[in-house]
Amino acid sequence: MADTNKSATLTLEGKSFELPVLSPTAGPDVIDVRKLYAQAGVFTYDPGFTSTASCDSTITFIDGDKGELLHRGYPIDQLAEKSHYLEVCFLLLYGHLPTAVELEEFESLVTRHTMIHEQMHYFFRGFRRDSHPMATMVGVVGAMSAFYHDSLDINDQQQREVASIRLIAKMPTIAAMTYKYSIGQPFVYPRNDLDYAANFLHMCFSVPAEQYNVDPILARAMDRIFTLHADHEQNASTSTVRLASSSGANPFACIAAGIACLWGPAHGGANQACLEMLREIGTVDRIPEYLARAKDKNDPFRLMGFGHRVYKNFDPRAKVMKESADEVLALLGVENNPTLQVAKELEKIALEDPYFIEKKLYPNVDFYSGIILDAIGFPTSMFTPIFALARTVGWVSQWKEQLADPQLKIGRPRQLYLGSTTKDYVDIENR
Ligand code: SDX
Repeated sequence: MADTNKSATLTLEGKSFELPVLSPTAGPDVIDVRKLYAQAGVFTYDPGFTSTASCDSTITFIDGDKGELLHRGYPIDQLAEKSHYLEVCFLLLYGHLPTAVELEEFESLVTRHTMIHEQMHYFFRGFRRDSHPMATMVGVVGAMSAFYHDSLDINDQQQREVASIRLIAKMPTIAAMTYKYSIGQPFVYPRNDLDYAANFLHMCFSVPAEQYNVDPILARAMDRIFTLHADHEQNASTSTVRLASSSGANPFACIAAGIACLWGPAHGGANQACLEMLREIGTVDRIPEYLARAKDKNDPFRLMGFGHRVYKNFDPRAKVMKESADEVLALLGVENNPTLQVAKELEKIALEDPYFIEKKLYPNVDFYSGIILDAIGFPTSMFTPIFALARTVGWVSQWKEQLADPQLKIGRPRQLYLGSTTKDYVDIENR
């Protein structure tokens, strides 16, 4: 529990109110306003939650000034280099790096839960083939609550554990099925002899007509992309999952809500929007035109893959992603990829531009990820489903943490009301 050896005094219309100040293990102190309305009859006001802590957590910490991202204390660049996605999943879920035995048991458990109920295949038939894969994912993941009735009770710790493993294990299968369905190819079953990332590539790219061997370079790049997207404090989609869960909704409904929120171009949809933007720019000589648009207050255009609510310095994930993009494209012999050249030049020019410097806008996780996903062979429509696949462990970990809080209350924000005060109904003949 946070230390409360400090307090803040609020003075309002001649009255003073003492508010406890809670000190974290890292990051800014927080003023505990839980009793403010009862004591002072006033609300706080913070649309977009720019200055609001919605919960306490021990899972992930971001230092936006230092460009630091920690998962249970371990820096993301070390995890990306030395760990792998399922080990990071264990770390996020259980709070410590696994022993060799724990890791083997966890990976075996996930591997043996990658198939989905056979009847769920029929859900896909209800979607148009040209549906965005995120539409299908939201629908199918929500529909998991229509199948896995033995893991819906959030008050049962064992059922919470089963739902957690099912979601992490089955998300790649569902994401791959949304892709296969969108291109009219048959679904490919998971294989238990492949690791998590290789299995996903197998389910996406193999066809019954010929042998498909997963390229280990691509599998490693895929696994690293999963790791870089695993969790990120109380971002919009994680906050959506927490809010949905606070009403007691079942785990599959909560994760489907998170997928829906992630879809937005200001959030997880930015990786697709960024690659489409880089392709629209096309050549380095057109960069100034787009930078001018990004700076124009009257133009809604924003530089996709740039900026962040928390990072006011570089996003450490973008740094690792950029290194990975260089490595993967060189190994694939496409280092002269025009889109990568535009991205690098755009980053260089933007970071020297006073507008971006003053507003502290740097590339975020979405700026380079699309270039790697494109090189692996995915269409842009699959970029956000892959983000959702990777973020499932973050959503599930935060969901479990919230449910373990004995003080959990339903999330119910108040408002600053600016509408009409009470007035009498006017009959239609008098209007
Ligand atoms: C993710 O929260 C997370 O942790 C998210 C995420 C995760 O892992 O979960 O990191 C994943 O969502 C990354 C962000 C992906 N989105 C994009 O790349 C879309 C483009 N970026 C922006 O829309 C924006 O930067 C946000 C949404 C990411 C952050 O928006 P904020 O914090 O609300 O900041 P803001 O919109 O108030 O911008 C501050 C200023 C504004 O100018 P002023 O009104 O002060 O004059 O900076 C400008 C903005 O106009 N600005 C940009 C810009 N981003 C912000 N101008 C041009 N291009 C941009 N990309």
